[in-house]
Amino acid sequence: MTLSQLQSLARREPLTMLTCYDASFAAMMARANIDALLVGDSLGMVVQGHPTTLPVSLQDMIYHTACVARGAPERFILADLPFGSYQASPGQALESSAALMAAGAHMVKLEGGEPMLETVSFLSRRGIPVCAHVGLTPQSVHALGGYKMQGKNVGDAERILNDAVSLESAGAGMIVLEAIPAKLAARISETLTIPTIGIGAGAECDGQVLVLYDMLGIYWGKPPGFVRNFMKDGVTGIEMALRNFVEDVKARRFPGPEHAY
Ligand code: KIV
Repeated sequence: MTLSQLQSLARREPLTMLTCYDASFAAMMARANIDALLVGDSLGMVVQGHPTTLPVSLQDMIYHTACVARGAPERFILADLPFGSYQASPGQALESSAALMAAGAHMVKLEGGEPMLETVSFLSRRGIPVCAHVGLTPQSVHALGGYKMQGKNVGDAERILNDAVSLESAGAGMIVLEAIPAKLAARISETLTIPTIGIGAGAECDGQVLVLYDMLGIYWGKPPGFVRNFMKDGVTGIEMALRNFVEDVKARRFPGPEHAY
C-alpha cells in the first residue's frame, strides 16, 4: 500500500487505521486488512503508563516504528513525531522524520495548524510524506486545558477549517481530525482533497482511526465517549475485533451518532 493508493482508496471507501506499537499486533492488523498502521505517541500513555504523550522520546518512536515495520512490512505505516522533536525548526523536523523513515515509516504525523505550515512545506518538498493533525492535539494538552472537544464555537471552527486548508496547500498528504464536531469534520472533508481521518469526528470523514487499546476495551479509567469497545457482543478474539472494526468502518456502521460530538 502506498500513499497514492491510500488516497485513491479513500475516494471509493472509508479508510481504516489503528494505532500499533509492536510486531505481533502489526502482523495481526495486516491479516485483518487494516489499511494503515499508526505508530502513535499514545504509546506514552497506553504502553509506558504516562498521563500524557509528552515524555515520549524520538528514540522510543524509532524503536516502536521498527517493531511495527518488522511485523507488517507490506502495510502503510505512519509514525508520530513526538513532542519536542520537530517544533524548534524545519531542520529539526527533517532530522527526526528521516530517523523515523529509516526505521520503517512511510509517512510522519505532526500536530498543529498555522505554526506548522512552514515545516509541512519543508518536509513535503524534500520527499517526506506528512500527515497533519488538528482539533484536539494531545501534545498541547496543557495549553488546551485538558483533553476536550475543540471547534465548539464559530471562531474556533473557522480556525480549524482554515488550518486544514492551509496544511493541505503546504503539502500535507493526509490529516487527522480529533475530537471536533461531526458537522465541522464533514465540512473539512468536503473542502479538502486529501483524506481526512477522524477520531471522535463523526462518520463523514474519509477514514477512521482508534487507539488499539481503547478499541480492545483496555483502559485505565473512563474511555473517551467516541470509543467503541470491539471486544464485546460475542467477539471471541482480538483478530475478530480487528476484522469487525474494518467491516463496520467500511460499511459506515462505525462511528455512530453516539460516538460523535
Ligand atoms: O498517538 C495517537 O494515538 C494519535 C491518534 C489519537 C490519532 O495520534
